[in-house]
Amino acid sequence: MAAPIQKGTDYHKTFGSKAYLKTFYTSPECIDEDGEALTPIFKEFHEIFNSTGRLKPESRLLDVGSGPTIHQLISASRFCTEIVCAEYIENNRTEIEKWVKKDPDMHDWAPFFKFVADLEGDSSSWEARQSHLRDAIKEVIPCDLTKPEPFPPLQYQFDVVTISFCLEVACPDRETYSAAVRNITRLLKPGGTLALAGVTNQTFYSFGGYKFFTLHIDSSFMREVFEKAGYVDINIKSFPATNPENNTVSDCDGLVVLHARKAEI
Ligand SMILES: C[S@@+](CC[C@H](N)C(=O)[O-])C[C@H]1O[C@@H](n2cnc3c(N)ncnc32)[C@H](O)[C@@H]1O
Repeated sequence: MAAPIQKGTDYHKTFGSKAYLKTFYTSPECIDEDGEALTPIFKEFHEIFNSTGRLKPESRLLDVGSGPTIHQLISASRFCTEIVCAEYIENNRTEIEKWVKKDPDMHDWAPFFKFVADLEGDSSSWEARQSHLRDAIKEVIPCDLTKPEPFPPLQYQFDVVTISFCLEVACPDRETYSAAVRNITRLLKPGGTLALAGVTNQTFYSFGGYKFFTLHIDSSFMREVFEKAGYVDINIKSFPATNPENNTVSDCDGLVVLHARKAEI
């Protein structure tokens, strides 16, 4: 009998950090079994942080639902000296810590740094960018977005928040999604930037022999939630799935990138 769809606390037992990395993050062009690549996300994050002039040097960044990954930090990290990664399960937090400490068992993110350095027009800078990000990650903390207080107490608000492929898989319903966005927003400075990558109209994703729940949402729902949470200049770009009939890894109809600014008080 097939295993039931995994959600909530199941993640602690069945989300395999290594299997996840192997399935989705071998290289930026890594094509999953559905024939989809994540490169539009990396290009969009590059645009957000390099073309909009949103971040000043020495910014502080909070990444929410980091998983075992750091790809979502590369573009913004150029402007950041303090980065806090918040993640639900311990194995994923350990995977990030391994990368920071250059543990021999760490995941190889070099192809992603090379990809971003090329976008930035200086391919020779990728190793320096990698060292800079290692130095900038100051803490990897636990978080649970379904709780009224998702994070341990933090000393300050952040200039930028990044979230990739987390909200719609962590939140079991639309009310929890909206509350999670409000809670995250409290940690962002007025005028601060939020950049989010996600999926639309997905009900599951799968890897490592398990299927995981996803909340079925579209970009108009996202816009409404972020508007209500106090964001302005909301910009949403959709990237329709190129191979929607083939849905072994997920049934999403596309990727989405949202960026917005928290209104000044
Ligand atoms: C699809 S992974 C995304 C990981 C990574 N950010 C990426 O870009 O690939 C979803 C992440 O959401 C996390 N998550 C699941 N439930 C959560 C919860 N209640 N609160 C916060 N994060 C949660 C999982 O542990 C997992 O790391």
